Amino acid sequence: MRIDIATLFPDMCEAVLSESIIGRARAAGHIEVVCHNIRDYTLNKHNRVDDTPYGGGMGMVMQADPIFRCYEAVCAQLPEKPHVIYLSPQGRVLTQKMAVEYSQKEHLFLLCGHYEGVDERVLEEIVDEEVSIGDYVLTGGELPALVLVDTIGRMCEGVLPDESAFTEESHYNGLLEYPHYSRPAVWHDKEVPEVLLSGHHANIEVWRRQQSLLRTRNKRPDMLEKAELTQKDLAFLESIKEK
Ligand code: ADE
Repeated sequence: MRIDIATLFPDMCEAVLSESIIGRARAAGHIEVVCHNIRDYTLNKHNRVDDTPYGGGMGMVMQADPIFRCYEAVCAQLPEKPHVIYLSPQGRVLTQKMAVEYSQKEHLFLLCGHYEGVDERVLEEIVDEEVSIGDYVLTGGELPALVLVDTIGRMCEGVLPDESAFTEESHYNGLLEYPHYSRPAVWHDKEVPEVLLSGHHANIEVWRRQQSLLRTRNKRPDMLEKAELTQKDLAFLESIKEK
């Protein structure tokens, strides 16, 4: 998979994308992420990429042409048109389900806005969808783009040791994840749940599923309403109703 990021702050993106799991995945060739400086695509002799808004008002607007030229340069390097996402607080709020869908695409082009906004005409021309990372406003689309690359990247083949690393975790199956424990077996007088020390894999699986259900019910009851539950799950939830 290849992800292209169009931004005015490529160094900010590179700094994050060179570290940790995504940095290693890039180095190993599991995922290709290319950051482009939109400023490199302006034809303005002063390297300008923004101008005042028509109709007046505060702030500056990112101009259409440098963004479009950047997009065209990226398209020229790809065998097909990329799926174009504009990071914006007006977009659909990102969920794990959306991230799974994006992780199955070959080419993504992420457009990061700044200042007061982006000239609407280039959005109309190239953007397939707008995505928000939550109902709050940031200074630009870079942090949201990095969030997107992080969550997509970790689901690409070869990035995590095995698929269960993400198929069992919070949100993937519509439930929150069960609690984790490691050595020592007793810490500050607190013991690790006995079942986890039993070596009985079937019992451990049942316990983990029940803990997932319990946590989701207590912390995110809204998620439980939408989760796919088995008869066994429902029976367990019924049995703990009063607890
Ligand atoms: N740009 C500014 N705020 C944003 C948000 N919440 N999500 C995505 N892009 C943004």
